[in-house]
Amino acid sequence: MYITALEAVAFRNLSAVSVRPCREVNLIYGDNAQGKTNLLEALWMFTGCRSFRGAKDAELLQFGKPKARLYLEYHGQGRAQTMQLDIEKSRTFTQNGVRLPSASRAMGEFLAVVFSPVHLTLVKDGPVGRRRFLDAAIGQLKPKYGAALSDYGKAVQQRNLVLKDAAFHRELYDTLDVWEERIAYYGSEIIRQRIGYVQRLSEFSSEIYAGISQKKETLRLSYEEAVPTEGRDRKELYESLIASLRRARKEDLLTGTTSVGPHRDDLRVEIDFLSARTYASQGQQRSAALALKLGEAAVIKSFSREQPVALLDDVMSELDAARQNYILNHIRDWQVFITCCDPSSVKSLRYGKAFRMEKGCILS
Ligand SMILES: Nc1ncnc2c1ncn2[C@@H]1O[C@H](COP(=O)(O)OP(=O)(O)OP(=O)(O)O)[C@@H](O)[C@H]1O
Ligand SMILES: [Mg+2]
Repeated sequence: MYITALEAVAFRNLSAVSVRPCREVNLIYGDNAQGKTNLLEALWMFTGCRSFRGAKDAELLQFGKPKARLYLEYHGQGRAQTMQLDIEKSRTFTQNGVRLPSASRAMGEFLAVVFSPVHLTLVKDGPVGRRRFLDAAIGQLKPKYGAALSDYGKAVQQRNLVLKDAAFHRELYDTLDVWEERIAYYGSEIIRQRIGYVQRLSEFSSEIYAGISQKKETLRLSYEEAVPTEGRDRKELYESLIASLRRARKEDLLTGTTSVGPHRDDLRVEIDFLSARTYASQGQQRSAALALKLGEAAVIKSFSREQPVALLDDVMSELDAARQNYILNHIRDWQVFITCCDPSSVKSLRYGKAFRMEKGCILS
């Protein structure tokens, strides 16, 4: 998948921008606060998802303007396509001249992955963000996964309510069996999917990390369960999970929370066999977060045969020259957009196109 043209009107500080990117690396450079990230955000909006900066639609409209318009020409599913996004009070997508009935229908059409400084939390922070990353990535590939996740969440909530009330209402105690069966039913599927996904992701991300570090370091990903289950098929996982839940009952009654299950699990990220969260340097953490995001794109490609466009916001800072060189010149066969402040990066770019961004305009 690749973009051949973008136009943005009244989107953030982009008053009227028109870009014709190349199929390889597109470097958008310029001083702070010129609109580089805004341009990536404009491209991202075509995935049908919300802004990766967590912005509300109204914040995307240029100050004082009632609406914004984005227009994309891209190559996907083997043909040239167009997509238009009008943002007013809500978002309206028009694909190849046909208006889509809802914004959610735009999902899965234009594919992109984004890396922005907020994604560093993937490696640095606690497990919540990593679980979310896994769930979003699997949910994109397996639509039923989202439903299992939501049913699982409800079952855990119900068990927690019973745990809290059981001390006063002994009769509730018997209902724990039902909620535990449900937790194990949906939980076993979630664990099975996550283990399968992490195995795949690990292969791709490790290879990408080896490239970034010039094979000097190794990245390893694994699924880490708060309470390890046994077996790897659904039935074995179910049995194992339900046994753990029963064993944990006494403790859980004291705390009023469920201590066993995939809502407590984590994606373990290791560099040279040490936890990246605890021991990795800033550059290593950045490289690892990038490898996770690019790995995600590679998994999507292995499923859908479409290579998502990579949007890399401010990825180069804190990286040494060799790592920067890899990102600029060795991510081949993909269309990549990279923003940076340092104009000297342009000199290091061997293939691709550079665009200078100034006050919301492209000057190249
Ligand atoms: N809705 C909006 N309307 C007009 N301008 C906006 C809007 N939202 C943000 N801006 C402005 O856009 C400017 C550029 O933002 P952007 O995040 O794209 O900068 P950048 O080039 O990525 O800078 P940096 O190198 O610091 O990351 C900001 O200074 C901000 O004031
Ligand atoms: Mg920026």
